[in-house]
Amino acid sequence: MSGSTSIVIFGASGDLNHRKLLPALFNLYRKKRIPENFQILGFATRDWDDHKFRTEMEAAAVQFCTFDYSYDEWLDFSEHLYYMSGNFTNPDDFEVLADRLQQLESGPSDRMFYLASAPRFFLPIVQELGRLGLVDEAEGKRRVVVEKPIGTDLASAHALNEGLSQVLKEEQIFRIDHYLGKESVQNLLVFRFANAIFEPIWNRNYIDHVQITVAEEVGVAHRAGYYDNVGVLRDMFQNHLIQLVSLVAMEPPANFEADSIRDEKVKVLRSIRPITIDEIATETVRGQYRGYCESPGVAERSQTETFAALRLYIDNWRWQDVPFYLRSGKKLAEKCTEIAIQFKCPPVQMFPLPQDFEMTANILGMCIQPDEGIHLKFEAKVPDTAAETRSVDMEFHYRDSFGETSIPEAYERLCLDALQGDATLFTRAGAAELSWKFIDPILEAWKSPNGPPLTSYEPGSWGPDEAHEFLSSEGRWWIRTCGDHAVQVIDPLKK
Ligand SMILES: NC(=O)c1ccc[n+]([C@@H]2O[C@H](COP(=O)([O-])OP(=O)(O)OC[C@H]3O[C@@H](n4cnc5c(N)ncnc54)[C@H](OP(=O)(O)O)[C@@H]3O)[C@@H](O)[C@H]2O)c1
Repeated sequence: MSGSTSIVIFGASGDLNHRKLLPALFNLYRKKRIPENFQILGFATRDWDDHKFRTEMEAAAVQFCTFDYSYDEWLDFSEHLYYMSGNFTNPDDFEVLADRLQQLESGPSDRMFYLASAPRFFLPIVQELGRLGLVDEAEGKRRVVVEKPIGTDLASAHALNEGLSQVLKEEQIFRIDHYLGKESVQNLLVFRFANAIFEPIWNRNYIDHVQITVAEEVGVAHRAGYYDNVGVLRDMFQNHLIQLVSLVAMEPPANFEADSIRDEKVKVLRSIRPITIDEIATETVRGQYRGYCESPGVAERSQTETFAALRLYIDNWRWQDVPFYLRSGKKLAEKCTEIAIQFKCPPVQMFPLPQDFEMTANILGMCIQPDEGIHLKFEAKVPDTAAETRSVDMEFHYRDSFGETSIPEAYERLCLDALQGDATLFTRAGAAELSWKFIDPILEAWKSPNGPPLTSYEPGSWGPDEAHEFLSSEGRWWIRTCGDHAVQVIDPLKK
């Protein structure tokens, strides 16, 4: 039986801890979800002491908590916060860490180490933890949360996973993709597998195509130096978009346990058809917003993509020949993440359509953010007409059904799951590598003469014209389903 729970945050003075982690842990404490006897020990180079750390974190809580901040609750919580100044590259500092943990813990304790550091420190930190036996499980659970990114390509992801596996068992490693902590992403599983009416039509017989959009309004801002070496394909597709594809496309798992769900997701990743160098120009679009190269920290003639669209296929019985269109970019018209499932049109057009009108397909829109919910677009008869039809929208919004404050931050769910050892929403080593296996050849092909040109687009638009032609050449359009748009098919001329 463990005496207490220790949470060690490597990179505790950084942006992630200020904006996401500490507020999430504070809210879990308010909700009495973390064990009563706990300590949070921050580790970073800054020359702070416990008092200064508490003061800094209080300011962060005031600024970033999405719930009503209460000073009394903060005071109680802050008594559990400690800090030590140390360097990830100095082995002596880890000896100090070990002593500090022993002082803080009342007997055998569970420990969660959170790697909120730059990725180049992930392995050195874990190796030090291993060297000092801090992750041995003889006296309690030892879990390590690894932030994104897991590598920058297949080789580096594999090297990181290999290095981690030399110190930790796979069940001790929690690779985070904060998208999976969002309620509306988790609801994808509930929607698909807790309802009987969707699964029978969730396949190539009824679905025409699937679209996934992850759009950001912001540009690169203070991340320019990092982003210019990365681009949208690594930053968004390799993790978030591919995760969403696997949740939409996976088979029903045997049960709701981590391994069952992760097994099914991996099967999807294994079935994604690679995009070959000969297909690269027709299956992908890459763009850069105008003005990107003038951003401080970006190379003068940078070829880094800030927008990408691609078409992928999943070669299995359920999805053969159903295109999945993915797009993501910066400086787009709106911030939104959404999935649109466009169904096939009825086989027979029974009702008269005005001239030049085409039959409208049913669309299921799943809004991940900002307006979490589900829209179903279907046809209805216009009153007082013989048989005129019009598309209408049936909506579910989280905020209406469950209240505005019921949606926790993704990091809250993920921190709690990691503390409890539930790996369902975390990425396994193999999944991260399979995803890179799909992305790497695209990045490689983009460098070749066969690759599509780097197109440009206006900030505040929906991306380059080529991304619209990409779909319109097949008689399809990008679909918006979130917020005020309520399942609207964007006319390409008004994009
Ligand atoms: N920020 C986000 O919203 C966000 C979102 C998703 C994922 N992430 C991931 O989270 C990780 C951290 O990101 P971040 O934005 O928080 O970075 P950050 O603001 O640059 O913070 C880095 C932290 O690491 C510490 N650090 C740097 N070098 C160190 C060293 N040699 N020894 C000890 N401490 C050292 C810094 O401490 P000092 O400044 O005191 O030296 C600081 O606390 C990254 O892997 C990132 O990809 C971040």
